[in-house]
Amino acid sequence: MRIPRHLAIIMDGNGRWARQKSQPRVFGHRQGVETVRRVVEECSRLEVEYLTLYAFSYENWGRPDEEISALMELLTAYLKKELETMLSNSIRFNVIGDIERLPTSVRRMLTDTIKRTERNSGMTLTLALSYGSRDEITRAMRKIARRVADGEISADAITESMIDEHLDTAMLPEPDLLIRTSGEMRISNFLLWQMAYTELYFTHTLWPDFDHQHLHDAFRAFGRRRRRFGLTDEQRSGDFDE
Ligand code: FPP
Repeated sequence: MRIPRHLAIIMDGNGRWARQKSQPRVFGHRQGVETVRRVVEECSRLEVEYLTLYAFSYENWGRPDEEISALMELLTAYLKKELETMLSNSIRFNVIGDIERLPTSVRRMLTDTIKRTERNSGMTLTLALSYGSRDEITRAMRKIARRVADGEISADAITESMIDEHLDTAMLPEPDLLIRTSGEMRISNFLLWQMAYTELYFTHTLWPDFDHQHLHDAFRAFGRRRRRFGLTDEQRSGDFDE
């Protein structure tokens, strides 16, 4: 099994898991939070350096109001309850996305958690909230365009690394592995720029059922991948587990 330095996860299938049990969708989200706890602790134990979870997408704002409120409540309760775990495991908490759109109480809670964990030196846990990759790239482009318009930089000075630095993920390395649960094989507007060379892993397991064993399976599959980054096998030899 190979541990990715940066693991990104699209946590999908809470609604279907609840439906299978003839329960409301929020029942699935509640169980989904339990999976978040499990996965965060296991990744921290395995010394994953960066874990990024897609918790609420820009498009999720279109869901029914009561589901949005339930997700916000779950998020607040999660942050309140998990602060202790973050502190005892030295986890640094972080957020990406258009957080201005989140309710003030949630924003306050997020800022507080970021502040209280900022000196931790273990795994960086990033929640993508109100996050859409195209929205993030658009916001970054606006910032760069303003610098050009102000005469601070010339258009020719724009480089890939400058774009990196203007994204919400400026402080994160690129993901090495993406896991998406529930059998859907899409990226759904998640980290589009950052995942140019990320290994993709799809599993049919629904998020509430995703356990340590499923996580280890994904890491084993990752260990068998040949990451060439556009180069030849010979140039990259020595980089593989086998
Ligand atoms: C996808 O399931 C999941 C979400 C839209 C939200 C993920 C949220 C959680 C796991 C809980 C809150 C998170 C934290 C960190 C406290 P879906 O509803 O799209 O499932 P479906 O595709 O089966 O309908």
